[in-house]
Amino acid sequence: MKLIQLTDIHLTTPGETIAGRDPNANFEKALQDVMNFHSDAEAMIITGDLSDWGDEDDYRRLKTRIEALPFPVHLCIGNHDSRDHFLSVFPDRANDDGFVQSVFPLGGHIGLCLDTKVPDTHAGELCDARLAWLSAQLELADRPVFLFMHHNPVATGQAPIDSIMLRNPDLFGKMVGRYREKIRHIFFGHCHLPLSGSLEGVPFSAPRGTNHAGAFNFAEPDLLSGSDLPAAYAVVFVRPESVMVDMIEYGYDGPLHIENSPEYSAWDRKTMIR
Ligand SMILES: [Fe+2]
Ligand SMILES: [Fe+2]
Repeated sequence: MKLIQLTDIHLTTPGETIAGRDPNANFEKALQDVMNFHSDAEAMIITGDLSDWGDEDDYRRLKTRIEALPFPVHLCIGNHDSRDHFLSVFPDRANDDGFVQSVFPLGGHIGLCLDTKVPDTHAGELCDARLAWLSAQLELADRPVFLFMHHNPVATGQAPIDSIMLRNPDLFGKMVGRYREKIRHIFFGHCHLPLSGSLEGVPFSAPRGTNHAGAFNFAEPDLLSGSDLPAAYAVVFVRPESVMVDMIEYGYDGPLHIENSPEYSAWDRKTMIR
């Protein structure tokens, strides 16, 4: 099974740019890349910051666009999103508590989208109601679970980013630990950085994002750092015994060097391109 994770698409009023890049065009370019190479995906999940300013029009355009795709698209909201505006366009994406949390079949697995949005802060949180919903879903789960969320539940080691991470990581971590046998992987975004690791023994990953890129800048104590690194999304190959997450830097438009054979016998000092 193949899954596609897009994150931090930051759709905005057509013509507006972020960090000199056009988020709408970069989203479209990502979808074209997915359709060229991965149209056989089981599903796409977009892990939040769907709209840059939470405008209803952005969600309307998103809805039109994802309805044209040949696979289901599941959505998380992030700190840039407006839950009210999102739900006015996607009313069926709310759970009984009114949060954008959903459960869906995912090719022999169960997918869970979590809502970590908190008003008036860029940090995230899973309140008691959202954690209770998660706990109930995990308790019920009779197949392996993939979790999708916006905020990073683990610190990156960079103070400005970590000041706006999930602000109750201990409670979430405890729940992940309790259900670690059921959770196969956690996917998130928010940092605009390629990240991977594990939480309570459960692997996680995040791709860079489809528009503006972050930077690993351990010298800056206060402000968030950006870069001109390429836009990216993730393709996830799920096999019975393994999960491989490829970060596709589709925003890279430099040359590719298709030159050397992987054949052992073809590698020698005379013929190998160096
Ligand atoms: Fe973002
Ligand atoms: Fe974010």
